[in-house]
Amino acid sequence: MKFQLSYAWLLVTLSCTNQIAPILTHLPLVCLIIPLIIAFAIYISNIRPFGVARGPIGLPFFGYSPFLHGTPARALHRLGRKYGGIFSVFLGRELTLILHSHAAMTAAFVANGNAFLGRRPGFYEEVLNSWRTDGKKLVTRTVGTHWQAARLFIANTIHQTGVSTANNLDLTKGALEKMFLKFDHEKTVTIAGAIDPTDFVMSAVIDVLFTVIFVQGSSVPTPAADFPLASLCPRPALPRAVDRYESTFLASLRTTFMAEIRKRQRRLSSLDETDQSFVGHYWREKWKQLASGKVDDHLTEQELLSELTCAFGAGTLGITGTIRWAFYHILGNPAVQKKIHAEMDSCGLGGAWIGVEHKAQLPYTEAFCEEVRRLGTVFPMSVVHESTEDVSILGQTVPAGTMVIANLFSVNRDPDYWPNSDTFRPERFLTTADEFSDAKHSVGFSLGPRKCPAQVFVRQEQFIFLANILNRYRLDKPPGCTTDWHHAGLGEVLLEPPTFRVVLTPRHTLAA
Ligand code: HEM
Repeated sequence: MKFQLSYAWLLVTLSCTNQIAPILTHLPLVCLIIPLIIAFAIYISNIRPFGVARGPIGLPFFGYSPFLHGTPARALHRLGRKYGGIFSVFLGRELTLILHSHAAMTAAFVANGNAFLGRRPGFYEEVLNSWRTDGKKLVTRTVGTHWQAARLFIANTIHQTGVSTANNLDLTKGALEKMFLKFDHEKTVTIAGAIDPTDFVMSAVIDVLFTVIFVQGSSVPTPAADFPLASLCPRPALPRAVDRYESTFLASLRTTFMAEIRKRQRRLSSLDETDQSFVGHYWREKWKQLASGKVDDHLTEQELLSELTCAFGAGTLGITGTIRWAFYHILGNPAVQKKIHAEMDSCGLGGAWIGVEHKAQLPYTEAFCEEVRRLGTVFPMSVVHESTEDVSILGQTVPAGTMVIANLFSVNRDPDYWPNSDTFRPERFLTTADEFSDAKHSVGFSLGPRKCPAQVFVRQEQFIFLANILNRYRLDKPPGCTTDWHHAGLGEVLLEPPTFRVVLTPRHTLAA
């Protein structure tokens, strides 16, 4: 009754105004036309080229982006369940192909690798490259000859500096010892000895990366412990305001790196072969090129700074994130921890320092690391690829110039390869003879010619960290802990577990 009165009053008032009267007359028509216009706009903005994989309907101008807010990998994973291994979404007005299954990713990045070599600039890369005055871009973002030369250098250098099994434990041991001391001290100052290990793990990872990049085999006395990066490292890991991140954290990181690079430049002419660090390799390669008169235009200080920043960022966040996932799964699966301890003790490694040369004796521990990487895909989506030619994958047309993203989070849960994929089960990486089986279907480092060049190094470091932590300690949930162990936090760029506390009880003091 109240509503009818107000409406009648409104009509009377409006009818008194000459301008409004015609609108009122045409109100039914207006009410019909506006929805039609909206429907037409939605229809037009969702038209896909013939033969391109189907996908959800998005909004005009914004596409499906507003519905991916917060946790894009998980939202895309849900879409994949509905639309299948390959589907398309409009991100803004850009039609983007999403690879959701292992078969789709293999068909694109492996079987047709060269057709997906392209990269697409975007917001993050603009920020990451904005400081460069040479107009070039980081290896992750470039294509063509610059990419080939830069990638070859980075892959060879990582291989020579970080992967040699002879020194892998050596370069990590000092950082682990310091981390254990910090764990033990922190326990004494927290309630019930329950600690959040994140900062200590991150500092240790930074120590290792610093050693690989600057110190390894070097005669320059720069103990990694004195390096100020640990204090610069931001928490939470990647702030949303990436531009603030660039102007504060990344800028100070580059200044620190530059000072270290300059320190080592003094030895440029001495061609010091004992310096096996990343930067040592850079200077030796540069010196050789200068001597031969053929200098690659990728071997510049700006490129080196870009690569070091990328290596440092990916390494710190990726390795720390994976170790935190390992803690998380151990706390949620006490039987797994028992098996790891039994394996170490039964083969006589209980209490010893464990290096990659011990992998053959510790298949269950290695399978555990692999399962941690599968479920906790720290970088849940690939960097954005671009198709460089018209190509067809699994019966779907991909026109040249299409943006392509592999949803690594989904592929690592592909039910064709991982039955009960949400269950944490290291045994899936063991053969019937209890040997570690090939982990080729786990795609945390992506596939094809643009996959992560640091994969071997990263996997080895993760194994050394986790095997030695688990050899030294038993991990338990704090008394009365009510954390929901099945709820995994998801960031926009990083897949991270929720914050947790852990009680670390020494099992062995690792022998000197
Ligand atoms: C846990 C640690 C890491 C993970 C999970 C990881 C994963 C990835 C992924 C998913 C890609 C994208 C591949 C694609 O677009 O298809 C990538 C690219 C790349 N990663 Fe890593 N990464 C890690 C650590 C590192 C480190 C320590 C370095 C140091 C050098 C590194 C260097 C690169 C480079 C240079 C690329 C670009 C390759 C190219 O475009 O050709 N990553 N990584």
